[in-house]
Amino acid sequence: MRTILVTGAAGFIGSNFVRMLVSRGVDARLVALDKLTYAGNLANIADLIDDERLIFVRGDICDAELLSGLWDKHGIGEVVNFAAESHVDRSIMGSGPFVSSNVVGTQVLLDVARNKGVNRFLQVSTDEVYGTLPEDKPEIKFTEQTPLAPNSPYSASKAAADCLVRSYFHTFHMPVLTTRCSNNYGPYQFPEKLIPLFVTNLMEGKKVPLYGDGLNVRDWLYVEDHCEAIWTVLERGRPGEVYNIGGNNELNNRRITEVILREMGKSWDESVQYVKDRPGHDRRYAIDASKMQRELGWAPRHRFEEAIRTTIRWYIENQAWWRAIKSGEYLKYYQQQYASR
Ligand code: NAD
Ligand code: DAU
Repeated sequence: MRTILVTGAAGFIGSNFVRMLVSRGVDARLVALDKLTYAGNLANIADLIDDERLIFVRGDICDAELLSGLWDKHGIGEVVNFAAESHVDRSIMGSGPFVSSNVVGTQVLLDVARNKGVNRFLQVSTDEVYGTLPEDKPEIKFTEQTPLAPNSPYSASKAAADCLVRSYFHTFHMPVLTTRCSNNYGPYQFPEKLIPLFVTNLMEGKKVPLYGDGLNVRDWLYVEDHCEAIWTVLERGRPGEVYNIGGNNELNNRRITEVILREMGKSWDESVQYVKDRPGHDRRYAIDASKMQRELGWAPRHRFEEAIRTTIRWYIENQAWWRAIKSGEYLKYYQQQYASR
């Protein structure tokens, strides 16, 4: 039986990924590694923890000794590296943890995988490594050939990791794969990100903080479609290749806000507060995912109109999950992030 090391498995996308594999009955053992940072939450995989196919390990991808032990004990054959610091605003407050987990962590994981041997190493990256696009040229989208031009400490750290992954293919012929995806939404997303923050703020009777003019554009993809794409690349992607993943669903933040307000029965005037813009705020992201469609037959299956409703319903029905998060360390972050805005 194959053994897949899934790092960052207690985070938003990682937990959705392991849930998809377990519920699908994939013939694989999953070693779910997570440092359990502020964003990692065992509650995200509580329903899977007793499943014999899943082995949870608390640990850091920067810890070479721990990683080597996982190879020795479990015979890791494949790696899917989700583990990362993932929030742009936090990277603006301080980039140290981003360089540590996203750059050094990826390097340590690559080295252990190279020394111990691995059949596939999939790096989960982001469209943010390409920088920003003009809003008045809708025909231009990020392709896999677009030069890397990261603009935030977060995206710079992800781009550095992508370069390391690329170099291990070129220099050591390691069977690496890189995916670059657009903005995800869905269940279990940490409520510091736009959609879960706005939905939960409204349930708490708070306003939603819209950055700048609210016209920044993102390409929104339902998390299950991203997980399906990652599995497709792990199964059938060509080593050394990069695959862009996107929803073909460009929306600006005002539009997202309108949809959320409508679904939750709130008005713009009572609920929206324009706040100071994010420094270096990328204006537009748009992904050309035609390579995924052409080479691997993948396309998103969920329509935004339905999947956003499913997502909002999930936060309404799982208040204990996010109310437990929106306390403690989160409160300190929230006050610091939004105090001066
Ligand atoms: P997240 O912040 O919800 O989860 C990240 C997880 O990684 C957490 O469980 C955290 O505890 C863990 N982690 C962090 N540092 C670690 C370390 N050093 N060792 C082990 N575990 C560590 O993030 P997410 O939104 O689920 O993103 C997962 C990955 O997908 C990231 O690499 C991110 O860059 C990428 N990505 C995210 C999106 C998005 O829209 N959320 C889009 C494209 C790509
Ligand atoms: O594009 C993929 C990336 O998407 C991932 O690599 C990142 O891990 C993920 O966090 C996400 O980055 P963004 O910065 O695009 O996501 P965020 O949810 O933080 O912001 C989405 C948009 O909403 C962005 O234009 C900033 C804006 N925003 C965000 C917050 C948190 C607001 O207007 N107000 C807010 O309070």
